[in-house]
Amino acid sequence: MRIFLTKNYDEMSKRAADLIASAILLNPNCTLGLATGSTPIGTYQELIKKYRQGILDFSGLTTVNLDEYKGLAPDNPQSYRFFMQSQLFNHVNIDISRTFVPDGLNEDSNAECERYEQIIKSAGGIDLQLLGMGPNGHIGFNEPDVEFIPETHCVKLTQSTIDANKRFFEKEEDVPRFAYTMGIRTIMLARKILIIVNGEKKAQIVKDAFFGPITPKVPASVLRLHPDVILVGDEAALSLI
Ligand code: F6R
Repeated sequence: MRIFLTKNYDEMSKRAADLIASAILLNPNCTLGLATGSTPIGTYQELIKKYRQGILDFSGLTTVNLDEYKGLAPDNPQSYRFFMQSQLFNHVNIDISRTFVPDGLNEDSNAECERYEQIIKSAGGIDLQLLGMGPNGHIGFNEPDVEFIPETHCVKLTQSTIDANKRFFEKEEDVPRFAYTMGIRTIMLARKILIIVNGEKKAQIVKDAFFGPITPKVPASVLRLHPDVILVGDEAALSLI
């Protein structure tokens, strides 16, 4: 694993965007795995800048997102599809028909998870997967557990994740209780992984995930078994390592 220490959120975002831009420049038809949440917003803004400067062309890309809340429609402002549209897709020349997010409205969890795995396989797998990390070490919505769940599945969100995400909703009751997420194997099969972390709230979990035992109780710890991972973090998030 390579670790890049950056000064602050802006520098972390620039560094992450540079790494994603390199992947796109080297292979304009690549498949990117994308994340939502507050951490990648700056990275997406930097990518949009590069598009506006004429450095990046998104037209050949396929994207697959890590996760989606079950029960939320794509036009619900809290859905991850809506997030991707407003934070990135609406601002670049991406072909929307080749951007994939699990379908939160599909009530048949098995069918949706199988369909999503198939989409990723048909895209030829993921070339570069962007990840954030939850304060409990979750990646995607793979919550701390007694085992790693390999494939795309439907999860019941933990109270810690509901607490962390309620800031995006009017009230806590509005936070969906279930979500679809890529599984650990789905993520680990990505050819390259870029994980970004910022802020002192992530410092302890960064230490646990990357310097503690590899365990499903800290899902991100599994990334240490991947041959090509880059961690980009700001000083606050990396302060304990
Ligand atoms: C989002 C996702 C989550 C977030 C994590 C960190 O698609 O998969 O694992 O990356 O919850 O969220 P932020 O960036 O808001 O701290």
